[in-house]
Amino acid sequence: MTAVGIDALEIWTGKLKLDLPGTFAPQKGEDPEKYTKGLGLNASSFPDAHEDIVTMGANAAKRLMERKGLAPDDIGRIDVATESAFDNSKPVSTYIAGCLEQVYDGDFHHANKGERKFACIAGTQSLDDAYNWIKAGRNRDRAALVIATDTALYARGDPGEATQGAGAVAMLVDEDPDLVELSTEQGYGSADETDFLKPNQQFPSVDGKRSMQVYLARMREAVEDFESISDPTHPEDFAYIPFHTPFPGMVRKAGLLGYRHMIRNTPIEESLAEEIGLQPREDDYADREAYEEAIREHMDELKSTDEYREWYGEVIEPTLAISREVGNWYTGSVHIARAAALKSAAESGRDLAGERLLVGSYGSGAQAEIHAETVADDWAEEIDELNVDEQIDERYDLSFAEYEKVHDRHNHDKTIDIEDFTVPEEEFVFTGWGRMNERTYEYVE
Ligand code: COA
Repeated sequence: MTAVGIDALEIWTGKLKLDLPGTFAPQKGEDPEKYTKGLGLNASSFPDAHEDIVTMGANAAKRLMERKGLAPDDIGRIDVATESAFDNSKPVSTYIAGCLEQVYDGDFHHANKGERKFACIAGTQSLDDAYNWIKAGRNRDRAALVIATDTALYARGDPGEATQGAGAVAMLVDEDPDLVELSTEQGYGSADETDFLKPNQQFPSVDGKRSMQVYLARMREAVEDFESISDPTHPEDFAYIPFHTPFPGMVRKAGLLGYRHMIRNTPIEESLAEEIGLQPREDDYADREAYEEAIREHMDELKSTDEYREWYGEVIEPTLAISREVGNWYTGSVHIARAAALKSAAESGRDLAGERLLVGSYGSGAQAEIHAETVADDWAEEIDELNVDEQIDERYDLSFAEYEKVHDRHNHDKTIDIEDFTVPEEEFVFTGWGRMNERTYEYVE
C-alpha cells in the first residue's frame, strides 16, 4: 500500500513579539512566573501591520513550494484551516492561491480549494481530508497543500490575553512522504460543548477553566477510541507525543493524564507501587467524590516520580520548545509541536526513522483526535531546512503601548493606521481593501 503523509512543512511566525514575563506581566500587576512556570510561555507572536492570516499562510506556502521545487500544476488541492477567517463565504485558500499566482507562472484553477473550521483541530482535519483524497486515488499524481493559519487574539482584559499568538504552518501532503507517514489508526472524542466560541464575533467568548477540563475529557475519550482499534498505548511505544498546545501548561496536564492511563496494569505501575501505591480503582471507593480525591492525590505523587519525570523530559518536553516562544497558533499549534519534537531529535543527532509519534489534536466546541504517525527515512533533511529559530530571534520586541496599538490595528471593529515595525522583504503583504471590501495583497521584493 502506498504510504501517504506529510512530505515537508514550513513555518511562518508573526513578525512581532510580546515578552510575557518582561513586558506583559508587570503591566497586569502579575508575577512573571505565572507565565514562565505556570503557563510555560516566554512570549507571544503578533502580526505586524502588513500581516494577517493570508500573508502568513501564503508566505509559509511559498517557502514550502520553493524548497520542494513545486509549480502550481503539482498541487491539486489547497485547504486552509483557520478560526480567524474574515469572510463567511470566500475561503482564505482562494486569497492564498491568488497571492501565489502573483509570483508563479501558471495558476491553481485546477485545484480544489476549501476552508476547514472546527476550532484548533481543523488543521489536523485538513490533513485527514488530504490523506483521504490521495488514498481514494482522486489526486491525479498531485499533492495537497494544507495551511493552518491563525491570529489568536482575545479581547483586551480577557484572561485569554495571556495565551495569544499568530503564525502559519504549511504542510505538503503527498505519496511516499519524506517527513511522516500517517496511519489509518485514529480515535475520536467529540461532544457538543460550550467552552470557547466566536458567534459571529472576532474575539472569542471563552470559559478558560472549562475549556481545560473539556480538552482533557475529550482527549481521554479519543485515546480510548484509538485503543479500540490499536494495541493498548504504552509509554515506550512513541518517540514523541505532540499535543495541541494552547500553552505548555495545558500539555503538562495532558501528559500526566496520558501517562497514568498508559501505565495502568503494566509492570511500570507495579514497579511504582512501592513508592506511591497502585492507582486508585473506582470500585474501591464509596462514591465518585472520594475516588476523584484519591486520583488527584495519586497524580500529585506520580508527577514527582523519577520514572514520570524522565519520560516527560524525553517524550513531551521537546514538543513545547517553539510554543513557549510564540504562544497559541490555534490550528497550527499541534503542528508546531510535532515540528519542535523532530527538530529536537535532529539537533541531538537521534535517528528517528521508523519510530512512531502519537499526535493528540484538540478543538474547542469540542473534539479531540488521537492518531499515530511513523517517521519517514528523510525526515532529518526536511527538518534541517526549517529556519524557525531565526524567525523567532528576528521578531520586533514590542513595548506594552506598541502591543496595544498592534492589537487595535488587527481589531476588525477599529480603523487604526500604524507604521510597520519591520521592513517587509521577499514576502506577501496586506495592502488594503478593494471595491467589494475584499482584502488585497501584493508581493514585496
Ligand atoms: N508561579 C508559578 N505558577 C503560577 C503563578 C506563579 N506566580 N501564578 C499562577 N501560576 C499558575 C497557576 O497555578 C496555573 O497553573 P495550574 O493550572 O497548573 O494551577 C497557571 O499558572 C495559570 O494561572 P491562572 O491563574 O489559572 O491563569 P488565568 O486565570 O489567567 O487563566 C487560562 C489561564 C489558560 C485559563 C486563560 O489564559 C485562558 O482562558 N486562555 C484561553 C483558553 C485556552 O487556551 N484554553 C485551553 C484549552 S484549548
